[in-house]
Amino acid sequence: MSTHIAAKKGEIAETILLPGDPLRAKWIAETFLDQVVCYSEVRGMLGFTGNYKGKKVSVQGTGMGIPSALIYCNELITDYGAKNLIRVGSAGSYQPHIKLRDIVVAMAASSTSGINNSRFINADYSPTANFELFEKVIAFTKKHNIAIKAGNVLSADEFYEDDPLSYQKWAEFGVLCVEMETAGLYTVAAKHNVKALSILTISDSLVSGEKTTAEERETTFSTMVEIALGIL
Ligand code: ADE
Repeated sequence: MSTHIAAKKGEIAETILLPGDPLRAKWIAETFLDQVVCYSEVRGMLGFTGNYKGKKVSVQGTGMGIPSALIYCNELITDYGAKNLIRVGSAGSYQPHIKLRDIVVAMAASSTSGINNSRFINADYSPTANFELFEKVIAFTKKHNIAIKAGNVLSADEFYEDDPLSYQKWAEFGVLCVEMETAGLYTVAAKHNVKALSILTISDSLVSGEKTTAEERETTFSTMVEIALGIL
């Protein structure tokens, strides 16, 4: 096992879906995969491996925020040989045209996290999606007539901001929505030369103040997972 994951070598697939919520990981595994095995329950951060249309795939909860997500992504890559990491998560809209339930693919991730400030002193690093996975999502969603938006997202360190209007500066510079993990995922994937992509569903809007219901979140989550599994 690695420090935070109880799986033995070979029990985790090269392609891994990464929801923040470990119970979402369980739901994804039970809803979409066959022959599911739970390989880790350490700290309640559940991980599963199963088959999707004959292909081995894993689903691992990452927790909320870059520090938690980086623990799992690092260990999945360096201890278990993960090659394709696909985040499936929720996000809050920063733009009037990004509506509840929209799917946003993160081409790049700005961040309020300090992870890259301490690496690249006095310079900005741009955490970026893997082009091959991104292209596959475009092809799959076009083929199946699924509408998506794509662009820059913000990976914030704080869910609760002091100033509720602080999002407007990011919005002015074209950032589509806010979540809390993608900049970390894209950075660690680049460092280890593996592929990563974040697919997000809008669960709330900082612009309108609207939120989806728990039931709506489940339905919209399905489309995002179908895209992530569809590009395997
Ligand atoms: N994930 C979903 N909605 C969010 C928000 N408003 N802020 C940060 N992360 C989110």
